[in-house]
Amino acid sequence: MNRNAPVSRGGPGLSRRRALAGAAAAGVLAAARWTPAPAAAPPLIGFAPVPVAAGGGPNPAISPDYRYSALIPWGSPLEPGGPPFRRPPRAADQAAQIGIGHDGMAYFPIRSGGSDGNRRGLLAVNHEFGANMHVLGKPLPESPEETRAAQHALGVSVVEIRETRFGAWRAARSPFARRIHVNTPMAFSGPAAGSPLLAAPSGLPPAGTLNNCANGRTPWGTYLTCEENFHLYFGSTGAFAPNARQARYGLREGESIYGWERFDPRFDLSAAAHRGAENRFGWVVEIDPFDPHAAPVKRTALGRFRHEGAAVVVGAGNRVVVYMGDDQRFAHIYKFVSDGDWRGMRARGESPLDRGVLYAAHFRGDGTGEWRALTLDSPAIRRAGLSDAAEVATFARLAADAAGATPMDRPEWAAAAPGGEVFMSLTNNRERAAPGPANPLAPNPDGHILRWRDSGGPTGAAFTWEIFLIAADTHGTEESFSDPDGLYADPDGRLFIETDGRQKDGLNNQLLVADPATGAVRRLFTGVAGDEITGIAATPDRRTLFVNVQHPGGGDPRRTNFPLETDPPDGSTVPRDATVAITRRDGGIVGS
Ligand code: FEO
Ligand code: CA
Ligand code: CA
Repeated sequence: MNRNAPVSRGGPGLSRRRALAGAAAAGVLAAARWTPAPAAAPPLIGFAPVPVAAGGGPNPAISPDYRYSALIPWGSPLEPGGPPFRRPPRAADQAAQIGIGHDGMAYFPIRSGGSDGNRRGLLAVNHEFGANMHVLGKPLPESPEETRAAQHALGVSVVEIRETRFGAWRAARSPFARRIHVNTPMAFSGPAAGSPLLAAPSGLPPAGTLNNCANGRTPWGTYLTCEENFHLYFGSTGAFAPNARQARYGLREGESIYGWERFDPRFDLSAAAHRGAENRFGWVVEIDPFDPHAAPVKRTALGRFRHEGAAVVVGAGNRVVVYMGDDQRFAHIYKFVSDGDWRGMRARGESPLDRGVLYAAHFRGDGTGEWRALTLDSPAIRRAGLSDAAEVATFARLAADAAGATPMDRPEWAAAAPGGEVFMSLTNNRERAAPGPANPLAPNPDGHILRWRDSGGPTGAAFTWEIFLIAADTHGTEESFSDPDGLYADPDGRLFIETDGRQKDGLNNQLLVADPATGAVRRLFTGVAGDEITGIAATPDRRTLFVNVQHPGGGDPRRTNFPLETDPPDGSTVPRDATVAITRRDGGIVGS
């Protein structure tokens, strides 16, 4: 966007630079309210950036101080000796191969057999989506077998990875290796478990997770995978008139873009035997990566919406707090607070994610805000027609609307920084007609990053906020980026920013590192034509950072052959989503 374009702005933190200067225009938020950098601290970011001019084309680019290598591409065997890549995949093979659409992920170190966990661990990786043209080489599946192949390409991989002597990472044979996909048995817990809302007339037990976007990890060592655009997988082969609740969740009559309803009636909204099947998706799902036989658990206390991610922190009284975004234009930001000390709850055999309060954020124009509880104590929520805790959880969007939660510019990832700030990317909103609190641009085609601090710590009911970065402010500079999406705050306070959208200045999507204390932003890595950079996980020593190159070339081998590097592309080698391991050439901490 041209910085002189007629864009209306309002609210605190009118631009990044003004916000960082603590200008009067930034409202009540003086710079001193945020944790200042310690005097004389070395700069957090010392690497040479990828110049704008080098950040386009069919292949990745990285800072001259770093190197990268790709691992676990889509369709590679989950364990050595497994079925090799083939397109289209056979359904049975794909269930034993890495899925497509690499997204959120977490690294779980394995510390045994002489391993310190920095060169050997489990990577839990989300497989968000793959276009039919990419997975199957055709616009729609034409058989149950092809439908199952596409379904098996989604979900989660738990893969053991090891670093070789030459610095590359490879999948290893492992008792923990596991694929979880659209037909894997699932369990439900929390307020909606056992509700008729989740009971299928067919009597089929719950199965499957899909559109697994961003993620979280718990203090007790489990992985959280978040179901985002589940509505896109549902269509109808017959007449279907969505009720108001279904419409609020984006369900509609007609053929879906994936076409599964043609061969799998679970995804056919007009199939009476599967009425309500969509209520089984849109949740945060907990997976124990070290227990390959345990069913994943959908934690309904965290609400049902287009879950982007789940950033977990521990607050007062050792209660767990989970920050979450609902990625749709004008949707909301949420947090869940457990009722008790997470250790005590687990010692009593209870999950801290099953009992607690779900809140939605209400932002005020003066830089303050409050978390509004989504419970039946609220007359507005009862007036919205929600009559029990199962309904509030399953239709959390309606509860948040009724509670007066603020409509946001597509909340994507949240990242909790060590000093208590929480960052959230608002990726874009071309439909915003007027500025609103915490969403100062109308329209907002390039996005911004917000930060807030809960009063009295993460369990607090009120917060103060400001705009951290406005992407449009960077255009035409060496810091240029758009459409912030993935975020990660490291223990030193660096904020890693990943992008998903049309970048300006000829750039591919990218990984940048920001110093929140100074506002400095530097480009560490750029992906390939047509991709998105997403997912981020570090080894415990932070000397290896994993990120994902998702939907390279949009699946088109004329744009890129990634992870095969060719220039120009050969036009025939299908590009494959893959993870990239990033290290500093001098062995230092990634991001420094
Ligand atoms: Fe899956 Fe909103 O990104
Ligand atoms: Ca995303
Ligand atoms: Ca996105």
